[in-house]
Amino acid sequence: MDGNGRWAEERRRPRLFGHKAGVESVREIVETASEIGIGVLTLYAFSTENWNRPAGEVSGLMGLLKSYLQSELRTMVRNGIRLQCLGEQDRLPEDVGAVLRQTIADTRSCQGMVLNLALSYGGRSEMVLAVRELARKCREGILDWRALSEASISDHLFTAGQPDPDLLIRTGGEHRLSNFLLWQSSYAELYFTETRWPDFRKQQFLEAIATFHLRQRRFGRTGAQVQEG
Ligand code: FPP
Repeated sequence: MDGNGRWAEERRRPRLFGHKAGVESVREIVETASEIGIGVLTLYAFSTENWNRPAGEVSGLMGLLKSYLQSELRTMVRNGIRLQCLGEQDRLPEDVGAVLRQTIADTRSCQGMVLNLALSYGGRSEMVLAVRELARKCREGILDWRALSEASISDHLFTAGQPDPDLLIRTGGEHRLSNFLLWQSSYAELYFTETRWPDFRKQQFLEAIATFHLRQRRFGRTGAQVQEG
């Protein structure tokens, strides 16, 4: 969800003003995704690297996150949205962690879209945690190292049990992955847009999805093979 800071600076306002406007886009995109039947939506809200931002911006973002969760709980339950967190939850401030755990628990039995919030998330550190866990299980004889597979790794990531993403959207004009779902995105279609996150609303989201539907996904096969089915 890139471009909040620049969106605010372009309006000669503090960066947090951009993040606040970004929350409105979050609401609209979550609602749209759920409406059109998307199974899993992941929002990269805070990376492990974002802890290095000025303390005021970090605490402002944590406050926005907490109030978003508190204000959206009823809507989530009504729309059957199940909240999950990807990332190192124990690094979050205690009050934010508590609201997050409560919202996850309160939406646990929802059957509609899964909403993943990537918080204190980094793709590489996620893989390190998975490898450590696999190593422990091998050492304790729970797993046989010769039987380790791609599925073993997928099963030990924060996204265990979820499908890999089909479409990865990056707003704000940057053309990189920035440590986001590195393992899971190997075959994701990438969509880059100049639009700053606060201006990325329902119409822009539907355009991204329409573009996705025009892509031919070959998964290593030839175009002719794909057309044969
Ligand atoms: C990146 O833009 C955005 C973030 C680091 C924070 C995103 C967080 C929110 C929109 C609010 C809280 C989250 C939820 C789910 C309610 P940037 O600051 O890097 O923008 P820039 O590239 O223009 O500087």
